[in-house]
Amino acid sequence: MASNPAHILLLLILSLFISQSISSPVDQTVLNSPGEPAREPYEHGERPPLADTVGWVDPRLNGGRFLDFTTRRLGEPLNIIISSLSDPFVLTEDGLHIYTKSIGFSEECFGMHYGHIHEAHLGDGLGRKGEHFLARQHYMPIIGTCWESVRGGHHFRAWKQNGTLANSGAWFLGASKEQDSSRNHKITKDGYNLGRDYIVERATAGSRWKGMWWKAEVQWQDGLLQKGKRGVNHGIPQDGRVAVLTVNRL
Ligand SMILES: *[C@@H]1O[C@H](CO)[C@@H](O)[C@H](O)[C@H]1NC(C)=O
Repeated sequence: MASNPAHILLLLILSLFISQSISSPVDQTVLNSPGEPAREPYEHGERPPLADTVGWVDPRLNGGRFLDFTTRRLGEPLNIIISSLSDPFVLTEDGLHIYTKSIGFSEECFGMHYGHIHEAHLGDGLGRKGEHFLARQHYMPIIGTCWESVRGGHHFRAWKQNGTLANSGAWFLGASKEQDSSRNHKITKDGYNLGRDYIVERATAGSRWKGMWWKAEVQWQDGLLQKGKRGVNHGIPQDGRVAVLTVNRL
């Protein structure tokens, strides 16, 4: 037992020395205070926040970022925005669910939310918030389970930018393609780009559900997301492009 004051002093010095030597050589981004998004220099094609977007607000203006928080540090790209210039119905939660069906996705089986909730910081004054919606491609309930969850496939999470600091009403989506569950819901190689492009293709081709018809226009944005795999969950690189969709009702 270190009841002797000299021992305690020695332990103190030792632990100081150890913590110094652990924290000195690490990457600068790791030194940001926990809970805060890493303020990194803009590099690898990422550019400073955009001040004059229409239909959505750059989350980075108020401390947000284009990676969600899958873990404390790693995230998946928010690679699609449904701008608030879209059909007002699609901007509602019920409307998004229905629009989602028109492009081949469904809500989670039986309202069950399996898996881990991701958070995102949209710079709207609400800080990090849990996803509002998770949709999966073509799920099919079979004997109390969900077919897609066995087979893998496309899915996306959505958050609404609706805090008072940036009340655009736009949806921010993190889209990706998963391997089948024998590989533990891992994202496939190039799964972030593939997941995004799959949705963009279907949205711009036009879709319908129960008498409602939509067709989206896309505008591609570079420089919001850092290209590559830095900070990206599973270390899967992505091309750094974000698709801004305006979904028009026909
Ligand atoms: C923002 O939108 C989400 C999704 O519709 C909703 O659950 C949430 O209550 C809204 N928050 C605010 C502050 O309006």
